[in-house]
Amino acid sequence: MNEESSVKMSDKMEASGPVWVGREDDIKKLRKKTATVHDREIVVFYHDGRFYALDCRCYHAGGPLHQGEIEEINGQACIICPWHKYKITLATGEGLYQAINPREPSLTPKWRSKGVKQRTHKVTVDSGNVYVTLSANTDSIDSDYYAEKFKNTITSAKKM
Ligand code: FES
Repeated sequence: MNEESSVKMSDKMEASGPVWVGREDDIKKLRKKTATVHDREIVVFYHDGRFYALDCRCYHAGGPLHQGEIEEINGQACIICPWHKYKITLATGEGLYQAINPREPSLTPKWRSKGVKQRTHKVTVDSGNVYVTLSANTDSIDSDYYAEKFKNTITSAKKM
């Protein structure tokens, strides 16, 4: 490995490594925290003893998920987008919706998944500090569009 490739490799590692987003106690107390991780705005939620990290902007139209409420739906913790009330699972980023299957005898709506719509990220807690590592999944996920479109808008608003 020559010097040039060594530099590029270290840049790459730095661009994908864990980033400190806050103190564990503070995030537990506040229940959520927004942060910019390698130029991507994310939100960390603390709910029912677990940390979750997702893209901050909703996959539907870019709603600010950090302003939403968390609800248990079908046994899964979900963030409800404040703009149009889409439901997104915190653990997997799946979009949930209710539907009736006309072929089933009961016409009670059931919760179903649209698949993964919101990119989730890895949270690590170490010695009282919380770190987020961006998802390494290279598949396109719907929330990618709004993560790019609204880049740094939440962070900039905080500075004002
Ligand atoms: S922007 Fe989130 S539900 Fe429409």
